[in-house]
Amino acid sequence: MNKIRKRKNEHLDIVLHEDVEPHFSYLSQYFLDYVSMPEIDMNEIETNFSFFGFPLSFPFYISSMTGGSQLAKKINTNIAIACEEEKIGFGLGSMRIVYEKPETLSSFDVKKHCPNIPMFTNLGIVQLNYGMKYDDIQNLIDKVSADGIFFHINHLQEAIQPEGNKNYKNLLNKFEKIVTKLEIPVIIKEVGHGIDYKTAKRLYEIGVKWIDVSGTGGTSWALIEGYRRLKHKEKRTQGNLGYIFRSQGIPTPEAILDLKKIKGLNIIAGGGVRSGLHIAISIALGANMATSARPFLKAATQSPEAVMKIIQGYKDELRTAMFLSGAKNLKQLSKHKVTKRKDCFWNFEK
Ligand SMILES: Cc1cc2nc3c(=O)[nH]c(=O)nc-3n(C[C@H](O)[C@H](O)[C@H](O)COP(=O)(O)O)c2cc1C
Repeated sequence: MNKIRKRKNEHLDIVLHEDVEPHFSYLSQYFLDYVSMPEIDMNEIETNFSFFGFPLSFPFYISSMTGGSQLAKKINTNIAIACEEEKIGFGLGSMRIVYEKPETLSSFDVKKHCPNIPMFTNLGIVQLNYGMKYDDIQNLIDKVSADGIFFHINHLQEAIQPEGNKNYKNLLNKFEKIVTKLEIPVIIKEVGHGIDYKTAKRLYEIGVKWIDVSGTGGTSWALIEGYRRLKHKEKRTQGNLGYIFRSQGIPTPEAILDLKKIKGLNIIAGGGVRSGLHIAISIALGANMATSARPFLKAATQSPEAVMKIIQGYKDELRTAMFLSGAKNLKQLSKHKVTKRKDCFWNFEK
């Protein structure tokens, strides 16, 4: 089996069956200040959001996960159908595998199931140091009719992945040349360890106007690669790189607060968003919208309806959070006060 396909299958298997999160949910440390008499009608709360010209029913998309295998095709198809139904956005997993194995294209080719919502493709920024050129990127975008592209930064994951691409030299200069040429929206994202202020500022200066912080507090790619090290005969649990770096990075709420200082930058809250309440907290902290990946994976192996059920839950929770805050719309929510409670460190799922 092709090496990338094998690795991707291992990733799916680990995420579906192991505990892959840090010990703490950082977003759950924050509370929306409670308004006892909101003086609004919950039925009149508006959550509509425009994302690069696409009308979304609320400010949310399912984050990049997979592609490249039969199971991945099923996952991407189920997510595409569910997102079209619920009018939210959708990110494909990294298309590097198509660059190396063009016959895997069909697992990403799902735009036909979601013509009216934004579907973004995805590539690792480090690939620019491993031979990928502008024409290759444009070719991948065209192949799936993507409405935009995520470039992910994932050096901690690459560092722990035994076969990882570890050369991050001079990437920003190379990336600048690509960003200025691409004609579709470009978003930079991490994969669960966060983006710091200085990096975000540099990215903003070279033309990146949207960043998904994908911070610490949700899926830990350090830990996932740690499990792979164990599978591949690294016997030590104690001392395994993945376990040691499991919780490293910038917690999602801290990344939002830091990046908010960059005027004009649009911020997406990713990494550990596990409910509509987390979406609301993120927006009140300064994010424009939110995204989540792992909570949708199992449902996506089942059916579009299973994915839709989770999306509907998130939307109801967001509306409830807005009601208790007295926020009639997203603008009011974005101005709502949040308080950090030092005594509370609750992981939503534990
Ligand atoms: C199974 C799985 C596969 C993923 N594959 C990719 C990928 O190919 N490209 C990418 O940018 N991020 C990838 N991610 C990272 C997510 O897009 C997201 O940034 C991260 O999981 C944090 O969000 P979460 O805590 O809600 O899962 C993947 C996540 C999961 C769970």
